[in-house]
Amino acid sequence: MNVSNLIKETNKQIEQKKKDFAEDIFKGLTQSPKRISSKYFYDDIGSELFQKITTHPDYYPTKTEYEILQDMKDKLPNSLSKDKIDIIELGVGDGHKTNLIIQGFLDANTNVNFYPIDISSKAMTLLEGSIPKHKNLNIHGIVSEYLDGLNYLKNQSENQKIVLFLGSNIGNFNQIESISFLNTLRNQLNINDYALIGFDLKKDTSILNKAYNDSSGYTELFNINLLNRINVELDGNFDLSKFQHYGFYNPILGAMESYLLSKEKQQVQINKISSTISFDYLEPIHLEYSFKFLPSDISYLSKNSGYNVVKNFTDSKNYFTDSLWKAV
Ligand code: AVJ
Repeated sequence: MNVSNLIKETNKQIEQKKKDFAEDIFKGLTQSPKRISSKYFYDDIGSELFQKITTHPDYYPTKTEYEILQDMKDKLPNSLSKDKIDIIELGVGDGHKTNLIIQGFLDANTNVNFYPIDISSKAMTLLEGSIPKHKNLNIHGIVSEYLDGLNYLKNQSENQKIVLFLGSNIGNFNQIESISFLNTLRNQLNINDYALIGFDLKKDTSILNKAYNDSSGYTELFNINLLNRINVELDGNFDLSKFQHYGFYNPILGAMESYLLSKEKQQVQINKISSTISFDYLEPIHLEYSFKFLPSDISYLSKNSGYNVVKNFTDSKNYFTDSLWKAV
């Protein structure tokens, strides 16, 4: 395995996570409207389904961002330390995009420490093989939540850092959450450290709607897998065939939203939270916000969380921007 020094969560952290999941599901399904946080999508099956979404022709963000990174990768080492760099990635995906950035630095003869942080150990193993070995590259995988991982890394090295937060993962946060998250990130960095953040831009709504309703139904499976996760981990009896995916662009929020709708009036038993949950016909469970951005949103976020925008890298269709920020 190419990922050496894999740092995993302790048993205590794993127990705590199970408790949090049960508590959040109880809270989310006993309130109105019902909701489950999108952070729970990424169990092993969910991470694999997400991979399938990202390579689907209807889902433009991943390939668009890949093109952007391919174009800019050789420019990064000029702005940053040429000698050695720590690359920290929040949420690893399959490593294809990250690999471009890493190769850009290796080509410039830079020594690279790569610290991928992801809550899914499955995602970490999917990384295996997609990043070729190199004498100037060390990989230290960290299986944890973003902020726990960053906290762990704080005192690991004195090197200049660049934090990658790609794929418009930031789109799952609303503006207040984004600023708070970016601020916390900023506090783990030194002046002269950088962040490269992927933002999915506002665009024709038909393109957005298609991307979140892919024609192979992976997005639907991805959402419904959450109910399966509840069945398995919390001893529930959701009938997966009795829910349907509903995803659309909400122009008031400026976000794609996804819901599961109950196809009929029904009751669901979830034993580990000692609950029977009632659903009306077409009653929704809210699952995800995926915010879309204007260039002005990007500068607003950077200003309000302690960074300067160094440069925005955007594709020719203006679908997506990778924004390079410097901590100030
Ligand atoms: C991983 C949050 C960037 O919002 O586009 C893809 C997740 N949800 N299809 C996104 C997702 C449905 C994805 N992010």
